[in-house]
Amino acid sequence: MSRILTGIQSSGKPHLGNILGAILPAIELSKTKESLFFIADLHALTTTKDPKKLQENTLATAATWLAFGLDTSYNILYKQSDVPQVTELMWYLNCITPFPMLANAHSFKDKSNKLSDVNAGLFTYPVLMAADIILYDANIVPVGKDQLQHLEITRDIAKSFNHIYGETFVIPEAKIKEDCMIIPGTDGQKMSKSYNNCIHILENEKILKKQIMKIHTDSKDLDEIKDPDTCNIVKIYKLIGDPKNCKNLEKKYRNGGFGYGHAKSELLDLILTKYNLPRLKFQELMDNPEVIEKELEKGAKKANQIASAVMKKVKKNIGLM
Ligand code: ADP
Ligand code: TRP
Repeated sequence: MSRILTGIQSSGKPHLGNILGAILPAIELSKTKESLFFIADLHALTTTKDPKKLQENTLATAATWLAFGLDTSYNILYKQSDVPQVTELMWYLNCITPFPMLANAHSFKDKSNKLSDVNAGLFTYPVLMAADIILYDANIVPVGKDQLQHLEITRDIAKSFNHIYGETFVIPEAKIKEDCMIIPGTDGQKMSKSYNNCIHILENEKILKKQIMKIHTDSKDLDEIKDPDTCNIVKIYKLIGDPKNCKNLEKKYRNGGFGYGHAKSELLDLILTKYNLPRLKFQELMDNPEVIEKELEKGAKKANQIASAVMKKVKKNIGLM
């Protein structure tokens, strides 16, 4: 049986990029196979040091999966930290992971160049990620292109463990979306929690409007003819609008007499209409955090069961049992 697994860090609230790039495709996959989705709150600790924010972001991340219809009657949604065996497994994996493999990981190099807090957690990040995956015998891991090297490291560690201690782990495979959309942020760069360029489509209308108003454009006047092909507002609109509405918007750009403020209002209206149901569901969940917590507890129980069986095998094979 193949098993799907993926995680999203709770270092911020999920944005349009996370939702279109990761959450919606993973929910689609979950309709065909048993899936485990988790909130990587331990990974988030490498960059987040505010306990209140971490908790809020963890709830918001879980609420996003639920608001977009993840069916938890047969899929498993849980918090990484609710299965502490993952950190135990990480230690065993640390002891067979070559130092240079981590030192050469480009996400570590990237982060250590950009961040002022270069902690050991950033360095061993891929080992925890390997533990996340192989602790659950996952075969398929849907991720964005940026995570491909982490998956290669996971495969190397799992193979090396199997070689040293005998067949123990399933060797997982990354599932990268071939069309691999990179959703642009308000500044035209990749939308990312780290770049302050996000559109949080489930946020309240006031915040959402403020984020949309931030989308960079050129400085053409209302009357001027505009180029829809180079405009960030149109790029984002086309990711979610239906073809007819997109054509209409492009036409208005080419006719002139239509300002960027108007285009932003149309984008806001589109988001409010298209995501009306998930927005309502998200708000209802955030107003009732105990419902989210219950879901996470239910998921943790199921995840713990799978993890315990795998850990038994691991401890026996390495000579601890
Ligand atoms: P962020 O860059 O905001 O911190 P994460 O690293 O937490 O995002 O990514 C979580 C998931 O969302 C990953 O699978 C990643 O590939 C996907 N993702 C993040 N940003 C985008 C984007 N702009 N476009 C498409 N997918 C994205
Ligand atoms: N590193 C991933 C990211 O930043 C999140 C993550 C942690 C993950 N553990 C995982 C993804 C295990 C897939 C499988 O996007």
